[in-house]
Amino acid sequence: MQAMVQKVLVLGGTGFVGRHVCEKLARLQIAITVPTRRRNRGSAVATLPTLQLVEADIHDPTCLQELVTGHDAVVNLVAILQGNEAAFERTHVQLSEKLARACEQAGVRRVVHVSALGADIRNPQALPSMYLRSKSRGEQVLHRAALDLTLIRPSVIFGAEDRFLNTFADLQQLAPFVPLAGAHSRLQPVWVEDVASAVVACLAGPHAQGSIFFFNDTATTEIYTLAQLVGLAGRIGGVAHGRGRPVFALPDVLARIQARLMELMPGEPLLSRDNLDSLTVPNVATGHHPGLQALGITAASLLAIAPGYLGHKGRRSGLMALRQGR
Ligand SMILES: NC(=O)c1ccc[n+]([C@@H]2O[C@H](COP(=O)([O-])OP(=O)(O)OC[C@H]3O[C@@H](n4cnc5c(N)ncnc54)[C@H](OP(=O)(O)O)[C@@H]3O)[C@@H](O)[C@H]2O)c1
Repeated sequence: MQAMVQKVLVLGGTGFVGRHVCEKLARLQIAITVPTRRRNRGSAVATLPTLQLVEADIHDPTCLQELVTGHDAVVNLVAILQGNEAAFERTHVQLSEKLARACEQAGVRRVVHVSALGADIRNPQALPSMYLRSKSRGEQVLHRAALDLTLIRPSVIFGAEDRFLNTFADLQQLAPFVPLAGAHSRLQPVWVEDVASAVVACLAGPHAQGSIFFFNDTATTEIYTLAQLVGLAGRIGGVAHGRGRPVFALPDVLARIQARLMELMPGEPLLSRDNLDSLTVPNVATGHHPGLQALGITAASLLAIAPGYLGHKGRRSGLMALRQGR
């Protein structure tokens, strides 16, 4: 077991996973630097005792190198789910390239990079979505650099502030039924606390060297279709007195029209055509790489965790919850 790091730069530390990673690092008394595009986005982590929040443009190579310098390790959690080809390229590929160069120049070797299940480092171009292709190419550029790299590929992540089960529960408060795109897609949800624990374990251990970790070990966590997860979100969320709403699988043609219409609406779409393309790849661990168990983590069951936060939803109207950003 290698010594635990003392000072960690967490890119994307203000996000859903990042907040949990920072909390765990702070508990270990590890000094943390979190850059953000806007300081107010970091309010959830700004008060952690060992954390320094800095407004910075991480896409600027000079700025990134200054940030990396003096740290023992970097965690990269920066990603987008929506956007055009250029945005995916900039966020997932070019940023990874800049990070690799910055680390090489600053002499920082240890990098834990959170990618996504479905990415394929060997053959990115064969993948169906801009998201998965760019995530895979981001893995490639980091893998080619002189780093002690751990790539972590979670399936969809759930937890109190998730935009996944919360959104589907809130939507069912509003709609009498759910016309669902990608209904038969298979997913293996993982708890955000387990993801954060794995990131911290990878920072500490020998897993930091050139490994690929798939979150979720098929032996210990559940696989669901998207339709099953939407149904569960409604039932656990207490929609229609705990019955949830009927979920109808949309045929592919209608699913694409629905996604296109969502893209035309203001703000980030609930589901884009690129998201639909990603859903055509099973989001389930292949078993070819070690999973959470290899890190000594027993994955929590969604059925044990989700009632703890979705169970309160019945008290708020769906519209109110959606307005509040869920
Ligand atoms: N959530 C999931 O279900 C899920 C599933 C599979 C994989 N993952 C992966 O897990 C990682 C963390 O996901 P998350 O859900 O925590 O993401 P998130 O909540 O959306 O947070 C993303 C973070 O990245 C930063 N960021 C986003 N776009 C950026 C840009 N263009 N330039 C600079 N910074 C940018 C944001 O920081 P500021 O706004 O403060 O600048 C934010 O803190 C990502 O790699 C994601 O692909 C997540």
